[in-house]
Amino acid sequence: MNIPFFSNKTSGPLMDQGESTPEHIAIIMDGNGRWAEKLGMSRAAGHKEGVSTVVKIVKAAVDCNVKVLTLYTFSTENWKRPKKEVDTILSMPKEFLQEYLPTLISNHVRIQAIGDMENLPFYTREAVQYAVARTSENNGLQLNLALNYGSRHELLTAMKEMFKDLNDDKLSLRQLSEKDFSKYLYTAGMTDPDLLIRTGGEKRLSNFLLWQLAYTEFWFTDVLWPDFSEGEFLHAVEDYRQRKRRYGGL
Ligand code: IPE
Ligand code: IPE
Ligand code: MG
Repeated sequence: MNIPFFSNKTSGPLMDQGESTPEHIAIIMDGNGRWAEKLGMSRAAGHKEGVSTVVKIVKAAVDCNVKVLTLYTFSTENWKRPKKEVDTILSMPKEFLQEYLPTLISNHVRIQAIGDMENLPFYTREAVQYAVARTSENNGLQLNLALNYGSRHELLTAMKEMFKDLNDDKLSLRQLSEKDFSKYLYTAGMTDPDLLIRTGGEKRLSNFLLWQLAYTEFWFTDVLWPDFSEGEFLHAVEDYRQRKRRYGGL
């Protein structure tokens, strides 16, 4: 079944706008709980509504010809929440993929996961791994789901593996470069995010992509994730396009 849910790329409002459309956008999708509590609903209802926003924003990213979209879905710190809420959040990838995988496939989306997948519940891992395998040949938007992701854990694991390779003479300490190191990260082979969006009003990284965001442009909004719209997303992209990235130069 081919569901023409996403509009044709060429009709996207930001098509053909040149090189300055961000290639890689990372999003800290925050505010689900507060959104639900404001409406007198359970936090679980907020997470469910958050999935609807994910669908809208993936569609917007496809329309804008964004190449990589990385979504912070569950952090290594989120285990501190009550088990019931953790279970709800970790069941969202399966619900999302069960409903939308055919649409994602028909839009050539390639799904990838970053994070410590081993310690996720089987139902989350299985759904995500199936989607990754099923979309691995696709050449459209790369959708990275950051699941059980924590940047310090990622960096420490990378360093341990790198030290092992140094020890085994697979690498030379003298020649070791930033590029060599980045190959040990979950994001190996990906470009760094050009734009980071955080919804929900907080102005912090919450252990997200500390290495990869070294020169990323940031865009914060008070809008809670379930209220975040395609219009807001385009606003962030437009704002990015007005900026001048200097990377320390002039
Ligand atoms: C973000 O929304 C989703 C996850 C952390 C998984 P929150 O659940 O953090 O919502 P707030 O910040 O409590 O409103
Ligand atoms: C960041 O949101 C993690 C995700 C969006 C998955 P949190 O709600 O967990 O962040 P803090 O606790 O406010 O820093
Ligand atoms: Mg939060």
